[in-house]
Amino acid sequence: MTKTSSIAATTKTIVKKHGRDKSALIAVLQDIQGTFNYLPKDALKAAGKSLGIPFSRVYEVATFYNAFSLKPRGEHIVKICMGTACHVRGAASIQDKMERTLCIKPGETTPDNKFSLETVNCVGACALGPVVVIDTEYHGQMTMNKVDKIIGKFKEEGAQQS
Ligand code: FES
Repeated sequence: MTKTSSIAATTKTIVKKHGRDKSALIAVLQDIQGTFNYLPKDALKAAGKSLGIPFSRVYEVATFYNAFSLKPRGEHIVKICMGTACHVRGAASIQDKMERTLCIKPGETTPDNKFSLETVNCVGACALGPVVVIDTEYHGQMTMNKVDKIIGKFKEEGAQQS
């Protein structure tokens, strides 16, 4: 099975799970992203076809929501909160440090596909600012040292598994 046909087949299964219901488009896209970690173009095409929704409309929805990514993302998603409370507590320096540590800018993924970096608005933990969320884990009162420690831990984990 080619990569394209396997993406299409997986997408069709997801659409079927949602009863081929046009109104479930967002839920379908969430499941596709949950499966592939991003929204492959072939999956968007297959979803549109199976749901009877034009590709242009599927694409419009996929690009409207920040939670969706059209580019492959890393194994770990690093989100730096740039909301007001975090900003006044030095989020910009944390972002700078994170960019230098991972050698990528927001919106990019490391060449080994380990980390993707994103900036987000308030993640609802203002009292802990500056906040960095890695996958689903919140890291509060971030400092330069903490960036090194946390990213170092993730890199170690990867090295132990390989
Ligand atoms: S501004 Fe960062 S958690 Fe609210």
